[in-house]
Amino acid sequence: MRRVYLDNSATTPVDPRVVEAMLPYLTEKFGNASSVHFYGQEARVALDRARREVAALINARPNELVFLSGGTEANNLAIRGIAESNAEHGRHIITSQIEHSAVRGVCDALEKRGWEVTRLPVYTDGIVRAADVRAALRPDTVLITVMLANNEIGTIQPVVEIGALVREEREARGRKYLWLHTDAVQAAGRMTVDVDALGCDLLSLSAHKLNAPKGAGALYVRRSVRLTPQSIGGHQERERRAGTESVPLLVAFGCAAALAREELPQRIEHLRRLRDEFERGVEARVSDIVYNGDRERRLPHLSNISFRFIEGEGLLINLDMQGVAVSTGSACSSGSLEPSPVIRALGRDDELARGSIRFSLGKDTTAEDIAYVLEVLPRAVENLRRLSPLYQKSLAGRACETTPA
Ligand SMILES: Cc1ncc(COP(=O)(O)O)c(C=O)c1O
Repeated sequence: MRRVYLDNSATTPVDPRVVEAMLPYLTEKFGNASSVHFYGQEARVALDRARREVAALINARPNELVFLSGGTEANNLAIRGIAESNAEHGRHIITSQIEHSAVRGVCDALEKRGWEVTRLPVYTDGIVRAADVRAALRPDTVLITVMLANNEIGTIQPVVEIGALVREEREARGRKYLWLHTDAVQAAGRMTVDVDALGCDLLSLSAHKLNAPKGAGALYVRRSVRLTPQSIGGHQERERRAGTESVPLLVAFGCAAALAREELPQRIEHLRRLRDEFERGVEARVSDIVYNGDRERRLPHLSNISFRFIEGEGLLINLDMQGVAVSTGSACSSGSLEPSPVIRALGRDDELARGSIRFSLGKDTTAEDIAYVLEVLPRAVENLRRLSPLYQKSLAGRACETTPA
């Protein structure tokens, strides 16, 4: 059976060039980067290089990066670190309704500890409005955390505009304790990410969304920003994250970042072309579909579609049996079948929210892969709809409408 992986927003396959770069650091080059001897220095040199490579991907300085275990830890360090170190200046945080659970969870936890959180809406297009951020600002706001691109619908958020707003608050109103964090885990490697152009103070990255292994990530922290470390007891990462660095994983992250930077224009063009071909194919073959999220302001690799009259879970399993891997909007992985908060935030009804599927392409997805999915998807949808009394009823209704009196 042919296998097609269209779940690259969940994780990406590791690039063979990345594997090759990291292998020596699993075998002969095993030193601890804090050791003074030859082995330690060899590891240190590799780590420094990885730091330069990841920094270059986002136009940061290498010493502005804290290496850690992934996007979740980066979001934890950013939000808790800023909240705790600024507690005496204010305890209000602004975020959006469509953040990743790593941001949502940290904000919820801070709320229980006495912080106040404003969660901004995203309207039907899945995009936060900078004007809403401005309206939500209070004298005690210390942090705005809005993701750069969403993981379920791919919409790109106006972080540039929010960054300009923060700059204006600082320069015109003399606010010293207002920081902007953005979760760029999905965006990196799929669009240009430039910390200066964005005007953000903190930015989260994860290696495994960039064709490197799981377990590595980085938090960009602008020079002027102080934050309370969440892991203490060691001098690593300039005292911002204690613990021996995973040199092999970080070497892999560095290599993947360098490749992503080098190949970014071709990757974007490839992803967009195949994704658009996929969407045209679905439109031609499947009725009663609704796209979720703005179709212009979104990442090039992702398509989120609701199929009326069916459960996304059923379609996912059906596709999986035919070798096609996708994911649903419902948080099945977390053990609940509640529709995803992201799709709900778009104002979708329950039926559309439950029938949503995320197709996310990767740099190695081929035209043949898309052709195969376009062959099996319409059949799978048709089979499931045949079992749906609501669909049968709607078909009967449509037949009546078109039958001449
Ligand atoms: C937007 C976003 N933020 C954070 C994360 C968490 O990253 P990690 O899996 O590296 O912990 C993910 C992973 O799905 C994500 O999509």
